[in-house]
Amino acid sequence: MDKKESLATLNEKMMRECTCALRAEATQAVPGKGSASAEILFIGEAPGKKEDESGVPFVGAAGKFLDEMLSSISLKREDIYITNIVKYRPPDNRDPSPEEIAACREWLSEQIQIIQPKIIVTLGRHALEHFIPGEKISLVHGQAFHRVFPDIGEQVFFVLYHPAAALYNGSMRATLLEDFKKIPRVLEKIRKNSS
Ligand code: URA
Repeated sequence: MDKKESLATLNEKMMRECTCALRAEATQAVPGKGSASAEILFIGEAPGKKEDESGVPFVGAAGKFLDEMLSSISLKREDIYITNIVKYRPPDNRDPSPEEIAACREWLSEQIQIIQPKIIVTLGRHALEHFIPGEKISLVHGQAFHRVFPDIGEQVFFVLYHPAAALYNGSMRATLLEDFKKIPRVLEKIRKNSS
């Protein structure tokens, strides 16, 4: 099986088997979308209303801003893969609980193992806390971290604020755009180090 087939098989299996309690109230799972052979994997927090309705991540206002940032570095959705820490919408968009995050962890971990991205871009504090606990996003946004995990192995993470944070805050918007522009340079460095 190639990466595309493996990812599709995983997502179908987990849509049947995921034990996350959020499933009960969600319309459907939002597994993720994009290229299974992407070098960049974006990980947000949880699906919102529009994502719950469509089954596709980041289709609302935050997603539009994400598209704008992608195009600022000449990328399209098809070039990357995008998913969330939890695959079901929390009621009223509340924060996902530790139990809900734990229930979706295996799904996320297997997605990462199939895609084997060169870089994982965390969007917002939940994704940051999941992989790099104890760091304050206001201090580490725009920075790359190297971490090793038993399931996913060695991985480079790049920390961003969540695109939704920029919707009503002009200075946050500028910060995100500035941080985003560093991604190609970080990626180039990883490519060089791994060749
Ligand atoms: N916010 C997220 O974190 N994920 C989505 O898919 C949409 C909005």
